[in-house]
Amino acid sequence: MMLAIPDLLDADAVARVRAVVDAGDWADGNATSGHQSALAKKNMQLPEDSPAAREAGRIVLDALGRSPLFIAAALPLKIFPPLFNRYAGGDRFGTHVDNAVRIHRASEFRVRSDLSATLFLEDPAAYDGGELVVEDILGVHKVKLPAGHLILYPASSLHRVEPVTRGARVASFFWIQSMVRDDAARTILFDLDRSIQAIAAERGQDDAEIIRLTGVYHNLLRRWADS
Ligand code: NI
Repeated sequence: MMLAIPDLLDADAVARVRAVVDAGDWADGNATSGHQSALAKKNMQLPEDSPAAREAGRIVLDALGRSPLFIAAALPLKIFPPLFNRYAGGDRFGTHVDNAVRIHRASEFRVRSDLSATLFLEDPAAYDGGELVVEDILGVHKVKLPAGHLILYPASSLHRVEPVTRGARVASFFWIQSMVRDDAARTILFDLDRSIQAIAAERGQDDAEIIRLTGVYHNLLRRWADS
């Protein structure tokens, strides 16, 4: 499943994150790449343990925790501490897959990457190129969202970032280990959850069928979740 989460950060929060990351000490982005992706990658990143990445990452994690849409879609078990990257002057990231397991070097925190996430932090009109291109069985998806919007996509997909030919693309990116490893099962739960919420808005939470369907949701989650 690919899902956009609009306005994960409001304009104030985007400005706060940008003030922190723009003042950070950027380094060559290949510091975090696997061997294959290092060959394809040209960008800048904040080192994962830098004060700027930690401070801005906390703002992002707080926003994720307050987003019912993110929680319903990702069913997060662990979230890798958010990283930040910057593409300018032709920087790009060629087609690659993300590593299956990410280890945070300082803490040895390990995350199986079920979902990848990109949080856009620049006005799309301020730069040319920089689309996130995700290939899945349904085709090729080009994603370039307003600042503050997040895209979730399967970490197993082939994806790339197109060259940035004007301005700079600044984003946060990270990986999520979901309670529900299987993308298809997670998608079923998300669809069921959305339908229950929509019907409950009409009938009320205490409707007998809503209670039964909520039970179905939790019984499926109980079958499929690691916790
Ligand atoms: Ni990637």
